[in-house]
Amino acid sequence: MTHIAIRIIRDEHAALAAMLRSILLLIEQHRRQNTLPDFTSLRAMLFYVDEFPEQRHHRKESELLFPKLRARTLLSRDLLDRLDEDHARGEHMIRALEHALLGFEMLGEPRRAAFEETAQRYVDFYLAHMALEEREILPLAERVLTAQDWADLDEAFTANRDPLTGHEPEPDYRALFTRIVGMVPAPIGLGSPRASANLVPLRRHQQETS
Ligand SMILES: [Fe+2]
Ligand SMILES: [Fe+2]
Repeated sequence: MTHIAIRIIRDEHAALAAMLRSILLLIEQHRRQNTLPDFTSLRAMLFYVDEFPEQRHHRKESELLFPKLRARTLLSRDLLDRLDEDHARGEHMIRALEHALLGFEMLGEPRRAAFEETAQRYVDFYLAHMALEEREILPLAERVLTAQDWADLDEAFTANRDPLTGHEPEPDYRALFTRIVGMVPAPIGLGSPRASANLVPLRRHQQETS
């Protein structure tokens, strides 16, 4: 039987991976069409990544799951240290990405490439991080943790769940998630890949901003 906490971690990884890939697809689509993205949508998507995966998911791993593993086994110590460092680095990287987006929004075309590179680096970094957790850490947890450990983890991971895994958002987040789900292509969102783009032709934007 799979523990609830493990299922939630995998579901939240899948939701984050889909969101990260949607962000890259959106950016790529606008580069190809030489259009500017809907910055409000991109800001909402990055805000979600900052609020849920960064502040909640990763924190529960670093503060609960990893300490329990360290208490039960000497295995994978270096890997756990590295994943903890990733969590800390991720918080800096999402701020840098939000700033790069703001640069693109405020200064336009000259900042597009820098934003694209920062986004690609962030996505590669997190996909690799989650793959490592799933390949190494979750199987180790299933081998060494006790029934009491699982009861604690199941309870902690059941609280504050990521609404993008199909759970009702807390009231404060309802408007944000309605917005995101409308923008992101299926299977996470309801928006079609074409409708999600909300394209602003480059020339029109330049006229508006000049
Ligand atoms: Fe993690
Ligand atoms: Fe994780």
